[in-house]
Amino acid sequence: MTARIIDGRACAAQLRAEYPTRIRSLHEQAGVTPGLAVLLVGDDPASAVYVSNKVRACDAVGIRSFTFCLPTTITHAELLGRIVELNNDDRIHGVLVQLPLPPHIDMREVLATIAVDKDVDGFHLYNVGGLVTGGTVFSPCTPYGVVKLLESEAIPIEGQNVVVVGASNIVGKPMALMLMARNATVAICHAKTRDLAQFTILADILVVAAGVPNLILPQMVKTGAVVIDVGINRLPDGRIVGDVDFEGVAKKASAITPVPGGVGPMTVTMLLDNTIRSAERMTAAAVGLWRPSSL
Ligand code: GUN
Repeated sequence: MTARIIDGRACAAQLRAEYPTRIRSLHEQAGVTPGLAVLLVGDDPASAVYVSNKVRACDAVGIRSFTFCLPTTITHAELLGRIVELNNDDRIHGVLVQLPLPPHIDMREVLATIAVDKDVDGFHLYNVGGLVTGGTVFSPCTPYGVVKLLESEAIPIEGQNVVVVGASNIVGKPMALMLMARNATVAICHAKTRDLAQFTILADILVVAAGVPNLILPQMVKTGAVVIDVGINRLPDGRIVGDVDFEGVAKKASAITPVPGGVGPMTVTMLLDNTIRSAERMTAAAVGLWRPSSL
């Protein structure tokens, strides 16, 4: 078997092509332009690259972005104050604090300070809790992107055995909850799982987000499985690879995402989607009669 390559760039481009129309409609009917505030604390080079990618993606579709580069020395109270200002700023429909934060900042309190209605990263406790009980306003972008990718490839989720490798708050845990909500049977594995292969071999859909290159080898994958590689690892020679032995596993899977060009482009796309939907929600609340079809 040779796997179909799931093209995340093409899927992302198809979704992004719809955004300018939604943004134009908001502007024409309510005079609103979606706005995203991005707060970058400190000088982590990887975070700076992620932030500039997000800003560029906003520009490309017509979302107004506001970037705040804050010094590592910012106090916890000052950072919370900046977030509250943005929560109260009508031009802003999404507030995103790039992670990780310096050690003197309490990340959980920072995320809890972002208004739920502007939490386009989906990291606020309310939005996380909503993944368990229903009622999430915004789903976290990477797992949301994986679900969109599966849907766009017409890969069924309901009733499938899904194994998620990686139990982070940003990807693994919300991924498992979002797939459970779609009636998959889900197991979560992590760094302490003994004999990982005995779980992964059962997966109809295997989602890997562990941050370990070559963690998943062909003998760990069921013939015909769908393999979604969320890993992004830079090798000593500079190459970017995922967590899956792509060449080997592609001979056994029925479909597989490449790295780069798989899940990565979907993550930023879902951030754009959440930001536009936030502007649509707020406009609908402010202008009672106006409701876009996407709500
Ligand atoms: N750091 C790594 N991934 C993310 C993300 O999706 N959102 C934010 N805010 N920070 C991150």
